[in-house]
Amino acid sequence: MPQDRLILFDTTLRDGEQAPGIALTPDEKLAIARQLARLRVDVIEAGFAAASDGDFYGVSQIARKVEGPVIASLARCVPDDIDRAFDAVRHAERHRIHVFQSTSPIHMERMLRMTPEEVMRSIIESVRRARRYTDDVEFSPQDATRSDPDFMIACCRAAVREGATTINIPDTVGFATPEDYVELLRRVYDEVLDGRDNVIVSTHCHNDLGLAVANSLSAIHAGARQIEGAINGIGERAGNTSTEEIIMAVTTRADHFGVEIAANTEEIVPTSRLVSRLTGYPVQFNKAVVGRNAFAHESGIHQHGVLRDRETYEIIDPKSVGAESQIVLGKHSGRAGFADALAKLDIVLEDEQFADAFRRFKALADRKVEINESELRAIIRYGESRADQTVRMISMRVSGGSDVTPAATVRVVRGDSSESEEFAGAGDGMVDATFDALKKAFRLDVDLLDYRVVPVTAGADAMAEVNVVVRVGGSTHRGRAVSTDVVEGSGHAFVEALNRALSAVNG
Ligand code: KIV
Ligand code: ZN
Repeated sequence: MPQDRLILFDTTLRDGEQAPGIALTPDEKLAIARQLARLRVDVIEAGFAAASDGDFYGVSQIARKVEGPVIASLARCVPDDIDRAFDAVRHAERHRIHVFQSTSPIHMERMLRMTPEEVMRSIIESVRRARRYTDDVEFSPQDATRSDPDFMIACCRAAVREGATTINIPDTVGFATPEDYVELLRRVYDEVLDGRDNVIVSTHCHNDLGLAVANSLSAIHAGARQIEGAINGIGERAGNTSTEEIIMAVTTRADHFGVEIAANTEEIVPTSRLVSRLTGYPVQFNKAVVGRNAFAHESGIHQHGVLRDRETYEIIDPKSVGAESQIVLGKHSGRAGFADALAKLDIVLEDEQFADAFRRFKALADRKVEINESELRAIIRYGESRADQTVRMISMRVSGGSDVTPAATVRVVRGDSSESEEFAGAGDGMVDATFDALKKAFRLDVDLLDYRVVPVTAGADAMAEVNVVVRVGGSTHRGRAVSTDVVEGSGHAFVEALNRALSAVNG
């Protein structure tokens, strides 16, 4: 049987980032990669280096700056892709090139327009090329679960002959059931590894039928010793296997799975929050392990049980996944109280950042009776993520209602100018009118690709985080803001996105 160490391969920054509406900047990718290193995943797939110059830069920055995990880049079976992938990861302490090629009839005939012989040849040449650069090469037969198993296995055997050290079996369209997948993986284990103990079999499952985690876990019994996943299960369409669910399944049911992992479970919730915030993808309330309700007990019977003994209804200790304790501040809290709350949350700020955060806290405290931990974190995060402001919005006024046409006026200042200018806009609603006025202020041709409001807490005076993604001249930019007022928050988020676009346009 294979070794008992399960390798966690996290693809939040590659497959996860392919989800619609996600546009991470290289610095945001670096922040996520650093957090994944704290979570102690074994491999970080940092991106697809050949996809664009931005992707290349994102991968290479992670390779240079993140210590611990192996840093991987994806590559098609195309010489340039492989060269770019290596160029991007070469500075990592340990690096990997992940080569993939489709092996299913529908992909080969309809998408690649290649014969099986051509596909086989491209795999052999590409794995051989990648091996000239590094001795850590992964090969994935894309759409493996809809491929002819004999052909797919022949491709994997050829990849191993050329030196591939990991054979990953993607359920690209989330089509497999646990039984199918185990059977297929068993064949791969027996026929591709053929007794070799220096090659790892890996899983990569998509969640189209909600089976990604179950399929991945089922493969452990078939000898798989690497599982690929993304934090919060983000990814193409319905997403990927959730990395955090795998970590907690193999930890909580160690008796069943019998494998060891290196992960630091206490970093799970911080990682989930960071990914949610930077991608703008909210976490489903009842999501296993990291959902807001994962450790909430509503019915009297459950509450009674948990008060007597937590284990009556909880199989995971919330502290073991880094779920937060309750901290509440109010408008009477001063600097000391604020500093104390930050210390409890392990948040360290420089003097200037502290002063800035305290000012935002006081402004919020004037509007809200109680500020809890989530809101406090949101205030700090907002300060961290703000882009340079070439154009600053110093005030906004909106009007609307059932019998008035929504309108907005914004006042902005450009650069160091002491003069301010006013712009008016109209739209379908107050947010739309504000965006209209801001487009005029920035003098940019802007497409709004995504607009999302995520409540940070519940209640009519709740704080909300607003995320926008815009396209300006072919590139996408994100903006984010927090406020108790959705229209105001939307305005600030839009201003941030447009300032990022402006910096890109001005180089
Ligand atoms: O889903 C898939 O097939 C992939 C491959 C590129 C590994 O993401
Ligand atoms: Zn995938």
